[in-house]
Amino acid sequence: MTTRRQWLKSALAAGAGLPLSLTIADQLMAAPVSRAERLHGIEPFRNGKLVLLGSNENPYGPSDKARKAIVESMKEGNRYAHGVAQELKKVIAQREGVAPEFVLMGCGSSELLCLTGMTAGLEGGAVLSAFPTFRLLMDYATKFNARWDRVDLDANMVHNLEAMASAVKPDTKIIFVVNPNNPTGTIVDNEKLRSFCMEMAKKATVFADEAYIEFLDQHEKKSMVDLVKHGHNVIVSRTFSKVYGLAGLRVGYLIGQPDTLKKMAEKQIWGNNNQAGLAAAKASLDDKDFVAMTRKKNAEARQHLFNYLDSKKWSYGKSMANVVFFPAPIDGKTILEETEKKGYQIRVWDYQDKEWCRVSIGTLEEMKGFTKAFDQIIG
Ligand SMILES: Cc1ncc(COP(=O)(O)O)c(C=O)c1O
Repeated sequence: MTTRRQWLKSALAAGAGLPLSLTIADQLMAAPVSRAERLHGIEPFRNGKLVLLGSNENPYGPSDKARKAIVESMKEGNRYAHGVAQELKKVIAQREGVAPEFVLMGCGSSELLCLTGMTAGLEGGAVLSAFPTFRLLMDYATKFNARWDRVDLDANMVHNLEAMASAVKPDTKIIFVVNPNNPTGTIVDNEKLRSFCMEMAKKATVFADEAYIEFLDQHEKKSMVDLVKHGHNVIVSRTFSKVYGLAGLRVGYLIGQPDTLKKMAEKQIWGNNNQAGLAAAKASLDDKDFVAMTRKKNAEARQHLFNYLDSKKWSYGKSMANVVFFPAPIDGKTILEETEKKGYQIRVWDYQDKEWCRVSIGTLEEMKGFTKAFDQIIG
């Protein structure tokens, strides 16, 4: 019997000569499928056998409070969740200091990135982003015929804001910044980012993806939400998938000007949020202990990986999130094959004619196992 994995492999092989956007893997993986991944095949399914260091998830979630809330919410499983979604929206609006119409709830922030990309494409024009970055918005924009203008990260693997500002064109609709960035985990200087957003918002909508912002220390954790409050043409996205550990429960949101959000909302699927996800998200919002525990353990495990990379004298971006990006020391396909044999799932990306490893941070035990395995692989 053909397993799902074999099926995916053959789908990839069949798609080898086709534009990447036509492959099934593209839909399954919210990240580019690299040359190495095409050759090796990728394992996006949860088979329970691999340590998953490929999707920047939180190995500790959902929190106990979220689990309890999920069980409780099952009593309402027979009911559509609109009312609960409205309630959570109000709670979020209050926390962020905006009126509820400045908030749009999504099935993960991915839904909202897709809708924003789609809207930009339908309006015609271009989307501008750093590269490499989380590309879902741009992928949707290009599916809807927008042009994607992209600007390489600087030598420190950080968004090059000056170069991005120079790349804005009269038809640029969205300027997309991810802070901290995925795949690098690097952050941009807060003051520079703030001025960039204010300046650029005069020319196009600035989209600040803050999926990993909760991983930052208090002094660096400066959201762009206040720019929305001051009337700037800025959208901020957040998710419950990362620090809150609810990736499989699919809750995210946007904060933006109501007129702008309306354009996304009118294309949304009806009833996009579910009872369990909403209940878990609500319970997680005030769970300071869980967030603090995640941040602490993530920093320890990340430091272990940094120490390993330092011991090898390999360069990498200074990640402040739960993902690290470094040049592949040997052929990417071999890395994928061998890491998988040893029980670990990571990603390999292509960038500037080179291959790069993108490793999500798991528990300290997992990272210790991973670095040991990786060291054996590279010989
Ligand atoms: C920068 C960034 N934004 C958004 C997302 C999408 O997350 P979700 O749809 O789970 O909210 C991801 C997922 O990895 C991400 O890395």
